[in-house]
Amino acid sequence: MKNTVLTFKKAKEEGTKLTMLTAYDYSTARLMDEAGVNSILVGDSLGNVILGYEDTLSVTIEDMIHHCAAVSRAAKNALVVCDMPFMSYEVSVEEALKNAGRLMKEGRANAVKLEGGEEYAPQVRAMVNAGIPVVGHLGLTPQAVNVLGGNRIQGKSVEAARKLIKDAKALEEAGAFAIVLECIPGELASIITKEVSVPTIGIGAGAGCDGQVLVYQDMLGISGFKPKFCKQYAQIGEIMKEAFASYIRETQEGVFPSEENTFTVDAEVLEKLY
Ligand code: KIV
Repeated sequence: MKNTVLTFKKAKEEGTKLTMLTAYDYSTARLMDEAGVNSILVGDSLGNVILGYEDTLSVTIEDMIHHCAAVSRAAKNALVVCDMPFMSYEVSVEEALKNAGRLMKEGRANAVKLEGGEEYAPQVRAMVNAGIPVVGHLGLTPQAVNVLGGNRIQGKSVEAARKLIKDAKALEEAGAFAIVLECIPGELASIITKEVSVPTIGIGAGAGCDGQVLVYQDMLGISGFKPKFCKQYAQIGEIMKEAFASYIRETQEGVFPSEENTFTVDAEVLEKLY
């Protein structure tokens, strides 16, 4: 059954943990969907793990639409959430609405996600009023890397923790149906989770959140990035490298392609060629 905003609401009410993974292409999204993940996030982390940028700032709305459309074609049951890239929602409510609309119409997203708190409540409210479900994103917000002075844990001081709680409440009040909490202390994430009626989805925010999200290249050992909060469920990167090396060796040695990988034609056709 297709996961919807109601699935998220019910999960919070019943205390069932929600699962979310990032994906950026059809094939990976299909595997995740078949595995039964509740939601697929087309994260702007695609700037790092797909496009090879050092941060997410250069990702465009066209990039997001392109990858989201591919993921949406595969997601039969998972709720597809698409990130609003840097500078696609900050300038004005009108621009935010237009760009979120494009992610829904052209990218076929089921919901959008944006980074930031209280200051973007007008954007969130306008989107929800226009029929666009919104996920908030607080804590380490990678689009603000230059303001934060690096990708570091957030909410460690009383002031910062209070601001995060206030932001979460503002997003809830504006109509966000879920809030991603990235890289904040587990105790603070648990407090926020209790303070809001919408589910929190944690990444580096401990077990007290209502759900978890991971970047799939990190959890499969593909990205070469192993932050403390990420559990690697497989070492697919090593398996891929070994397979690439075997292909190169076998091709160079003439082992591949073998007869079983080769098409044939009737001998009489060959004879008639000359
Ligand atoms: O872009 C992304 O992948 C994200 C997750 C880290 C939550 O926003």
